[in-house]
Amino acid sequence: MVPRLVELGHEVTAVSRGRREPYQPHAAWKQVRRETQDREALEADGSFADKILALSPEIVIDMICFTRDSARHLVEALKGVVQHYLCCGTIWVHGHSEIVPTTEARPRKPFGEYGIQKAAMESYLLEEARLHGFPATVLHPGHIVGRGWPPLNPAGNFNAHVFEILARGEKLALPNLGLETVHHVHADDVAQGFVKAIQNCKAAVGESFHLVSPAAVTLRGYAEHVSAWFARKPNLRLLPWEQWKESVSEEDAWFTWDHIAHSPNCSIGKARRLLGYEPRYSSLQAVYESVQWLIEHKVISI
Ligand SMILES: NC(=O)c1ccc[n+]([C@@H]2O[C@H](COP(=O)([O-])OP(=O)(O)OC[C@H]3O[C@@H](n4cnc5c(N)ncnc54)[C@H](OP(=O)(O)O)[C@@H]3O)[C@@H](O)[C@H]2O)c1
Repeated sequence: MVPRLVELGHEVTAVSRGRREPYQPHAAWKQVRRETQDREALEADGSFADKILALSPEIVIDMICFTRDSARHLVEALKGVVQHYLCCGTIWVHGHSEIVPTTEARPRKPFGEYGIQKAAMESYLLEEARLHGFPATVLHPGHIVGRGWPPLNPAGNFNAHVFEILARGEKLALPNLGLETVHHVHADDVAQGFVKAIQNCKAAVGESFHLVSPAAVTLRGYAEHVSAWFARKPNLRLLPWEQWKESVSEEDAWFTWDHIAHSPNCSIGKARRLLGYEPRYSSLQAVYESVQWLIEHKVISI
């Protein structure tokens, strides 16, 4: 997102703890002011909003807000100061899929702490925008992938070994019928969505938007395509959930359950219509980049 903003002529300040480098090196970072701040620590002593205010921002892009209280702390300080406040949500605000593709208009039924808190944050921000004119927009990414991102795999967890199994044509067990869904998005398409929301501020304020690829994939379809990348025939075994979860680690089972219990399948119709969002990557094209990166960095060997 930062290179995209610099290219458009924005003067960018990136605030983080300074522990991590950008996902991708880019010459644009030379023109970016980097501020080292720990949001959690500063929120604890009530000074985070003042630190942000001191930067005199016209637009604030908030990538690491996870609760209503955290959002309120910042919003109260930014009222009447910023032209646009964009906050990162998650498609987990929906809970389990009901009528698919899920639109932003569906009632929120989140489960799990993360989704519940993000939904409360979203509802607070949209209320602030609609009742009090605060210029907030909430953008909900799917499973972010691309170079530098360990991808959510066809078993619905983050164990990179699953890609090795498929690449070698070995047997892979999937839960149930393998027909539950996951919905990825390329990191650059997430960036595109945020930038287009800034460029279409009037349409974006007071609204939330999904930022996902044009179509979700089933676990089975995803696995079959990964096998095909390595010229292998898929060697899949389908197991009932209770049996499948015993065949993997507790951590992998937890992530898979979290993903298949949601089985996200979200619409990008609203973002297309109001923002002109047009993802460059399908789910599989986006994951392909992550897998190439895993191979190049020897995280997996095929
Ligand atoms: N990852 C996904 O698939 C996904 C899916 C849907 C929604 N989201 C949402 O996307 C947002 C970003 O998530 P992510 O996965 O991209 O996280 P991430 O890769 O961990 O990036 C978080 C960024 O924030 C900085 N940061 C973390 N803690 C901080 C703190 N206490 N103070 C200041 N800076 C801090 C990190 O840099 P330093 O470590 O250098 O501080 C890093 O630059 C979140 O709101 C998340 O809910 C993510």
